[in-house]
Amino acid sequence: MKPMISPSILSADFAYLAKDIEMINRSEADWVHIDIMDGVFVPNISFGFPVLKYVARLSKKPLDVHLMIVQPEKFIPEVKALGAHVMNVHYEACPHLHRVIQQIREAGMQPAVTINPATPVALLQDIINDVYMVLIMSVNPGFGGQKFIEHSVEKVRELRALIDRTGSKALIEVDGGVNADTGARLVAAGADVLVAGNAIFAAEDPEAMIRRLKGR
Ligand code: DX5
Ligand code: ZN
Repeated sequence: MKPMISPSILSADFAYLAKDIEMINRSEADWVHIDIMDGVFVPNISFGFPVLKYVARLSKKPLDVHLMIVQPEKFIPEVKALGAHVMNVHYEACPHLHRVIQQIREAGMQPAVTINPATPVALLQDIINDVYMVLIMSVNPGFGGQKFIEHSVEKVRELRALIDRTGSKALIEVDGGVNADTGARLVAAGADVLVAGNAIFAAEDPEAMIRRLKGR
């Protein structure tokens, strides 16, 4: 199976964002990955809704929004206003995760739960049938261009087994340090969607890198 590719614009050139969105529009990418950070849940701040309004206007690809913020449920209306396809919230940021997942669905978006590197896959057992997707972080969230945490491959295998055992239809997405090598191994382990920032935007030919991540 060919994976879906979700380029992370965190690694784009913010001074020329339109140019990078147009590259993604032309490419074989499936989604656009949007990293929102608050300087509280993660030690960095990226961009907010006033900027993303323009990204949403330009993008022809569905938006895969990853909120690295506390109380992400507060921003369901703002994410909805962007026309987002997926809204990813962190397991670690949601004490009432089941409620937040229902609220995202009621708002007309696809709910996804994200887990940090230190959060076990087994904790997803009671929510796996309610989510559209699980996002496994393969770096500690907050920055692009970090080194891939090898144990993530094993977590993808474990999650694939949990999904098969429970009859869940959840997709598996992986984010952080994904390149042609780690990407191929993640797909072999059962990943459906690869997020990549640095690998795509630092490549000489970003569109060719997207094709390569797809395994073409
Ligand atoms: C990290 C973000 C990622 C990041 C990935 O906190 O969630 O989406 O942009 O960047 P790379 O692919 O460079 O590791
Ligand atoms: Zn992300």
